Amino acid sequence: MSLKQEIDKRKTFAIISHPDAGKTTLTEKFLLFGGAIQVAGAVKSNKIRKTSTSDFMEIEKQRGISVATSVMAFEYKDKRVNILDTPGHKDFAEDTYRTLTAVDSVILVVDSVKGVEDQTKRLVEVCRMRNTPVIIFINKMDREGKDPFDLIEEIDTTLHIQTRPLTWPINQGSLFKGVYNLYKSSLNLFESNKSQLADEVISIPNLHGPEILNYLSEKDTKKLREDVELIEGVFEPFDVELYRAGLLAPVFFGSAINNFGIQELLETFLEIAPSPRSREASERMVAAEEAKLTGFVFKIHANLDPNHRDRIAFMRICSGKFERNTFYYHTRTGKKLKFANPATFMANEKILTSEAYPGDVIGLYDSGNFKIGDTLTEGENLHFKGIPSFSPEIFKELENRDPMKTKQLEKGISQLSEEGVAQLFVQEPGHRKIIGTVGDLQFEVIQFRLEHEYGAKCAFMPLKFYKAFWITCPDKKILETFMHRKSYAIAKDKEGNPVFLAESEWNVTLSKNDFPEIVFHTISEYAAVANEGAVS
Ligand code: G4P
Repeated sequence: MSLKQEIDKRKTFAIISHPDAGKTTLTEKFLLFGGAIQVAGAVKSNKIRKTSTSDFMEIEKQRGISVATSVMAFEYKDKRVNILDTPGHKDFAEDTYRTLTAVDSVILVVDSVKGVEDQTKRLVEVCRMRNTPVIIFINKMDREGKDPFDLIEEIDTTLHIQTRPLTWPINQGSLFKGVYNLYKSSLNLFESNKSQLADEVISIPNLHGPEILNYLSEKDTKKLREDVELIEGVFEPFDVELYRAGLLAPVFFGSAINNFGIQELLETFLEIAPSPRSREASERMVAAEEAKLTGFVFKIHANLDPNHRDRIAFMRICSGKFERNTFYYHTRTGKKLKFANPATFMANEKILTSEAYPGDVIGLYDSGNFKIGDTLTEGENLHFKGIPSFSPEIFKELENRDPMKTKQLEKGISQLSEEGVAQLFVQEPGHRKIIGTVGDLQFEVIQFRLEHEYGAKCAFMPLKFYKAFWITCPDKKILETFMHRKSYAIAKDKEGNPVFLAESEWNVTLSKNDFPEIVFHTISEYAAVANEGAVS
């Protein structure tokens, strides 16, 4: 098969949702369709359960399991589907954001009862930043949920995303009858049946003809006809190019637990979702079809077993063909690296692979060469864009509790921040280390891992900061003045970019008023570039 054919057959995406909306259930149903698993329940272990929020070891155990399920690949109708798993737990949101840099599209699951929830907003914001195409699946239609028109409006307004229903529900909850496919003019009748897999679809070429009355009551038919008329009147016809440009999200309704609407979703997804496309590196656009290999690391998973210090770096292939035992160029360090045991992931299994193509994710055993965001090429100096750090929400000062182990602590904390467990900010003078995370859990993770993997003991002192802002300014002098004046709140991130740690919203507003030339970014991505271009 040619490289182009390999690329065209690949669909790499993530399923995202607020916890409990049905991501795991939907993933599992997709895998069942793909024949990748045989029984329902096989993916469940992947989920970080809410009951154990403070039980870090339990969560790590579950995360351990999730290494194998970090990518779930399967073949369906000549396509190779790569589902990248994202942790649902809020404290691991950064992991999810990074994973979103490695996908070509996403399916967003929304709970029909709860509507748009907090985490959904952040996730969609990240998708919008990168123009990632989104398909929306409104789940749990078997429950009494919100009115579908209200849901669509809520999605439009709170997620700032233009939508277009492709299917439409006929009632919901106990009266749920199924969905009407607006594009295929077909009816998919709901049966509460967890064992049936494929949808039985009835073609209804004319919604206004008598045929539909064989399946729906007069009342339901009348309502459906009115709804469809309204939809056709309000929405433009679905434009697949707008979807691929990340500007329009098609909407499906169904019930994952009942296998309802899943086949429709999967098949439409395979038809319209983009295959791997060109990606932007700082130096140039890299086309997926280029013969030479390029790829970047978006996730690093450490082995918790202290006897096995190796880590797995997850690399997304962007162009060319990856081959086992071949030397590649690590652009940050200039080293040549080859990999004897690269792994791919099929459903729940990790298997040795000898080749991989754009869109694929491979696991590379690593003894400390990789940082998140690192690029591999065949010699060219490229750096893929867009592995951003978001402002943490909790800040604590790291205290060394065993002066004899200072070196170990330094090494440990620097490696953990490279893995993306937490963000490390260093404040001068005194080399004060400030750890920033999105959840409290990470502090437990850090403390445990520093002790067990590096033999270092630490404690954390809470700090009052509420947000980190990467600061840039076209005029270096102004930036320096600001940093000098606010030195108590200035630190450097791991790349050496200046960061302003704000104690409150008011604090930021004040600083912005005093220094209107300075730009405050809550995402790291733009900081380095802007400061490089600054004049002295
Ligand atoms: P998540 O990964 O997004 O966190 O959600 P998950 O799939 O685990 O689903 C959360 C809960 O919602 C589960 O129930 C699941 O069975 C249920 N669910 C998923 N899809 C549907 C649906 O279409 N209709 C209804 N009514 N429920 C659905 P649970 O009680 O938390 O777990 P379990 O005991 O069923 O495993």
